[in-house]
Amino acid sequence: MNHRQPLPQPVAPAADRDQPAAASETFPWLAFLEIDNGAIDRDHREAVAEGNRLSELLNHRQSWPDVVAMLRQARARSARHFETEDRILAQTRFPEHEQHRRAHEHILAAFDRILAELEAVTVPEERHWQLAQAPRDLLVDHCLKDDLRFKSHVMQMGARRGW
Ligand SMILES: [Fe+2]
Ligand SMILES: [Fe+2]
Repeated sequence: MNHRQPLPQPVAPAADRDQPAAASETFPWLAFLEIDNGAIDRDHREAVAEGNRLSELLNHRQSWPDVVAMLRQARARSARHFETEDRILAQTRFPEHEQHRRAHEHILAAFDRILAELEAVTVPEERHWQLAQAPRDLLVDHCLKDDLRFKSHVMQMGARRGW
């Protein structure tokens, strides 16, 4: 075999080459995410659905103004959800309630910085499409790492109060 000949490289079909480098995945609601069978679960379900709609927009590189509008909506929804969660954790005396409240503040501050950067963009570049996924990553990370920490506490309090 002549090793000076370049080896043929696999070529992706044209449709695949048009796809973004790192597509954001959609995911279903999973039973282990259920925490209170109430306001928290309702908000989390909405967030999962909204995150999936955003992923669709991002994966297809659809209307940038729609992406920014959806991020603004997600920011507002997150702030409302955090207020609800903070109130429930304070009322039920969750021991790490203050720490959790601060985590919410950090997420909203990061969300605001990302949103301010993206709102100034009129012709998005690849890095902007990538950055638009960051708020969702922050929220998913928080839900899996932090929210699930109070699951057993809220479930016990709910059982005691007959929720
Ligand atoms: Fe939450
Ligand atoms: Fe939270």
